[in-house]
Amino acid sequence: MNTLFALPEENKAHPARYTDALLSTFVRMLRGSRRILDPFGGTGKVFLLEHWLPGIQIEAVEIEPEWAAINPRTTLGNALALPWPDGYFDAICTSPTYGNRMADTFARISGSIEPRGKYAWDLRRELSPDNTGRLQWGAEYRRMHELAWAEALRVLQPGGRFVLNVKDHIRDGERQHVTDWHIETLKALGLVVREHERINCAGMRIYRNGGKRVDYESVVLLERHLTSVPADRLSVAAADDQEMTSAAAEHRR
Ligand SMILES: C[S@@+](CC[C@H](N)C(=O)[O-])C[C@H]1O[C@@H](n2cnc3c(N)ncnc32)[C@H](O)[C@@H]1O
Repeated sequence: MNTLFALPEENKAHPARYTDALLSTFVRMLRGSRRILDPFGGTGKVFLLEHWLPGIQIEAVEIEPEWAAINPRTTLGNALALPWPDGYFDAICTSPTYGNRMADTFARISGSIEPRGKYAWDLRRELSPDNTGRLQWGAEYRRMHELAWAEALRVLQPGGRFVLNVKDHIRDGERQHVTDWHIETLKALGLVVREHERINCAGMRIYRNGGKRVDYESVVLLERHLTSVPADRLSVAAADDQEMTSAAAEHRR
């Protein structure tokens, strides 16, 4: 995307900020929205959208203080317990963690010679307990994201848009269908898919698995049904939850 302003220098390490190539798609999908939330805010790159969507209100939430501090407008908080009332936003734009090797623990990578591209390495410590970035693709990853999506939909008004950026990865030579899982989960919570764009990102990551790679990121536009989602659908993940996370447990009290 051509810019008439300088993109801010990326001077604080974070392994998974939005790629610039995604921004024009976000802008196109979000045009006409008035209040956007990024519940997995990271470095606050979502605020860049204001340049193309003047007058819009943007909020972002990030759980790690070091990353929340990169953009002072980011709220330090937890995607599982958002501090806004029901239906406050008319759009969500977000990228969850992907469940790939970026999630390796600090204990595992601290002796490694190539620890780059990991959440814990960039913080030089283990992630917070409710950070989904410490989870590899699997049951706990899915449970935490069900809780996060239910909470995001609580603050999204009926008819609101949900722009999801996610990517599959290869593990032990097999493609992990993380993107489909997110889409199906959001559909089960009452959203409809309007568009699915695949944006080439070859060369932007460190690849393993003998050259096998997924070289695009998905940007999916979904829309929430005009009628609100029944409360029992929104709490489906939480109801099944045997090992309730600290924030989610707090939120449900
Ligand atoms: C894929 S990154 C998003 C990066 C962001 N799009 C950017 O451009 O900087 C996901 C972010 O979500 C944060 N995160 C993970 N779990 C969270 C939670 N429960 N609440 C809030 N933030 C969380 C991680 O720390 C990480 O910074």
